[in-house]
Amino acid sequence: MKLYIAETYDELSRMAADIISDELSGKKPFNLGMATGSTPLGLYRQLVQKNRAGQLDLTDVRLFNLDEYYPLAQDHPQSFFSFMKNHVYDPLHLPSHRVFIPNGLAKDTGEECNRYERLIHQHGGIDLQILGVGSNGHIGFNEPGTSFASRTQVVRLADQTIQDNARSFDDVGDVPKQAITMGIGTILESRRIVLLANGEAKAEAMRELFHGKITEQVPVTSLRLHPHVTVIIDQKAAALLNLSLQKK
Ligand code: F6R
Repeated sequence: MKLYIAETYDELSRMAADIISDELSGKKPFNLGMATGSTPLGLYRQLVQKNRAGQLDLTDVRLFNLDEYYPLAQDHPQSFFSFMKNHVYDPLHLPSHRVFIPNGLAKDTGEECNRYERLIHQHGGIDLQILGVGSNGHIGFNEPGTSFASRTQVVRLADQTIQDNARSFDDVGDVPKQAITMGIGTILESRRIVLLANGEAKAEAMRELFHGKITEQVPVTSLRLHPHVTVIIDQKAAALLNLSLQKK
């Protein structure tokens, strides 16, 4: 795992955008795995700026999102589809046939999970997956205790996640209790992973990632089993790391 500690959130976002635009200028077509939430917002702003400046060609790029709340309609303002539409799809003028996200209103959730797995597979797999991390160490919506072999599945959100995500809803009671998420096994099949974390709420998860044991109780530690992971965090998220150990 490569670790970069950025001075500021802006720097973190720029570093991530540079990695992604480098990767996108290589392999075509390119399958980019997307995360939602507050962490990647700066990165997405950077990608939009680069695109407007003519520095980012998205012609052959397909986007696959990690997760969606369940049950929640795409046009609900807090759906991850709406997040993507507002921050990514519309500003980057991405056509609907190149963007994929689980359907938060699927009637047959088992079939929806299989469809999403097949979709990723049929397109040749994820080339680069962007990840955030929950304060409890979740990746995607794979909460503590999820098998590292898990595939796309319906999950129950942890109480901590519901509390953390309540800030986007009017009331904590409005946060959906479930989600459809790529599994940890699905995420680990991505060719490259870029994990972003900022703020003190992520410091413990970062300590577990770098100094804890690899355990299903802390899903982010599964990334230590992957050969090509880049972690970009800010000073606050790095506060509990023993950096002298890191350099060895
Ligand atoms: C979102 C996702 C989650 C978030 C995590 C951090 O698609 O899969 O794992 O990355 O909950 O969320 P923020 O960035 O809002 O702190």
